[in-house]
Amino acid sequence: MPAKTTPTMDDAVDVRDPAVVPAEAVAPLIRGVAVLRELTEAGGTLSPSALERATGLARSTVDRITATLARMGYVRLDGRDVVLTPRLMELGNAYLAALRLPALLDARADELADELDESVSLAVADRDGIRFIHQATRRRAMSLSFRIGDLLPAERTAPGALFATEWTDADRRAWRARRAADPQDRGFPAVPPREHPWPDEEFERRAAQAAVDGWALDDQLIEPGLVAVAVPVRDPHTGRIACAASVVSHTSRHTAAGLRETLLPRLRVAVADMERELRQTPAPEPGSGPSGLAIWTGASKQELGRGFVESLARGLTVLTAFGEGRAALTLTEVAKATGLARATARRALITYEHLGLVTATAHRTFTLTPRVLSLGFPALARTSLAEIATPHLADLSSRIHESASLAVLTPAGDEIQYTARVATNRVMSVNLTVGTRLPAYATSMGRVLLADLPRTRRSLGELRPLTPRTLTDPAALDRLLAEVHAQGYALVDEELEAGLRSIAVPVRDHRGRVVAALNTAMHTTRRTPAECVSDLLPELRATATAIEQDFHTADRFTRVPTA
Ligand code: PHB
Repeated sequence: MPAKTTPTMDDAVDVRDPAVVPAEAVAPLIRGVAVLRELTEAGGTLSPSALERATGLARSTVDRITATLARMGYVRLDGRDVVLTPRLMELGNAYLAALRLPALLDARADELADELDESVSLAVADRDGIRFIHQATRRRAMSLSFRIGDLLPAERTAPGALFATEWTDADRRAWRARRAADPQDRGFPAVPPREHPWPDEEFERRAAQAAVDGWALDDQLIEPGLVAVAVPVRDPHTGRIACAASVVSHTSRHTAAGLRETLLPRLRVAVADMERELRQTPAPEPGSGPSGLAIWTGASKQELGRGFVESLARGLTVLTAFGEGRAALTLTEVAKATGLARATARRALITYEHLGLVTATAHRTFTLTPRVLSLGFPALARTSLAEIATPHLADLSSRIHESASLAVLTPAGDEIQYTARVATNRVMSVNLTVGTRLPAYATSMGRVLLADLPRTRRSLGELRPLTPRTLTDPAALDRLLAEVHAQGYALVDEELEAGLRSIAVPVRDHRGRVVAALNTAMHTTRRTPAECVSDLLPELRATATAIEQDFHTADRFTRVPTA
C-alpha cells in the first residue's frame, strides 16, 4: 500500500487531535476503532509496528488493543501479524440487519443481474461518498469490482449524482472541502487515484440533471471501460432515497449511452418492484437482541489483567445491540441489550457519534451509520471458505499433531477436491496439495459429502478396488452412506491406500446443507479406529463448529465462495 499522504475520508475528524474529541468520549474505544480501520484499509493484515506507524499510538497501547480485540475474536495474532477475523463482520452485519434493505432487496438485485447478465449493485449514501450494501457481480472484462462496504467518492459514481440531489448546503460545502483537501481521492482506497481532477461544477451539473431525469450515468469516471447507470429506490414513507440500484458494465459490451437505451428500462422495472416490496413489507417485529454481553468482559479483565482494555470491549459490544427490528434504540435499550451500565453505554454512544458510526435521531434514539461497514467489511467481504477454515485447521493440527484438510465435491460429483490443508508430515504416497482430487466413494471426506445428497443426486462414478479393502458394491455403499448421514462422520480404513486411515465430519451452511468436509488422515499405526472416534472425532467436531460460526457470520450478507 502506498504511504498515506492525505487523511482518509474516515479520518475527516482526526481522532488523534484531542481538541475536537468530546470530553465524555472513551479514548480507548477511539483508539480501538482506529486500529480496526487501519487494518481494514490495509486489506486485513498489519504487523504491530505498521499499526504503530499508521495510528500514531505507542507500541504498548497497540499491544493491549490487539490483545483485547483478539480476546473478543475480532483479530487473531498470526506470528508477527495482526489479522482481522470473519467474526468482526458481526459489526457490519448489525448495520445491514438494522437497515433491512439487503434482506428485502438482494434477491431482486440478483434476479436482475441474472436477467441482464451484468453486475448489479445496491449502494447507500455515506456523507459525500457512496457505500455498497450489495453486489451481484458478473464481471468478465477487465474492470474493478467492488465489495460490500467499499466507499467511493460520490462524484465518480452514478449513485452519487442521485444522492447529491438531496444534499444540503452544508453537505455541498463539506464535499467541496474534501475535494480541495484530497484532489486525487487518496482517502478512497477502493478506487484508483484520480490523474486529472475535473472541476466541481461538472458534478453539480450531473446532479442537477439526475434530479430532472430520475437516473444517472457513470461514463468511465472510476476507470477506463467501467460504465454504470443508477436509479434511486425510494423509501415509501418518506419519499427520500433509501438506496440506489446500479447496473454496471464494460465498454466492450455497452457504451454509457447504450446502457441508458437498453438496460435502463429494465432497471426501472426492477426498481419499481423493489419499491413495491418496501411498501408491502410490514415493519419488523422488535427483535430481542443480545443480552448480558458485558458480563464476559469482566471475566476477561480478570484473566488478562492490564492486557485487556475493558472499556474498548464494552464499547464494541454496543454496536451489536443493533440489528433487525432494532434499528433505532434508546439509551435504555442499548444498556439493557448489552448489560452495560447506562453511563457506560452513554459514553460509548457519544464516542460513536463523534466517530460518525452512530447518529442520534429524533425521539432520543440512536441508529448505526453505513460507516460501521468500514470496520472490516471491505477487507473481509470476499473471504472464501478455505481462507476462513485455514487458521482453524492449523489450530486443530497443532492440537492433534496430524494434518487437517478441507474438501468439496467437484461439479461432476464423483471426486473430492482439496480446498485447504495444513500438513504435519506426509503419510500418503499421493502428494496432497490444495487442488488435489481423489475419488469421493473411497475417501472419508467424499463419503461425508455424498451422504448429504439424496440418493438420486449422487454420482459415484466407477467403484474400483483401490486396495483389497475398498468397498465397491453400490448397495453396500448406499447403506454405508445412510449410516454416515445418521452418525455425522465417516471413517475410512485402508480403502484408499494401504496403511492410511482417515476420519471426516461435515461443515454446514446456516440452512444445514453440507458445503465442505473436514478431515484428518494418519498412518494406521498411529491410532486404532476406535481411538480415532474417541480422541479425534470430538476435536474435528469442535473445529467444524468454529469454522461454521465464522462462515455463517461472513455469509450472512455476502456470498462466501465455498469451492
Ligand atoms: C459498482 O457497483 O461497481 C458500481 C456502481 C456504480 C458506479 C460504479 C460502480 O458508478
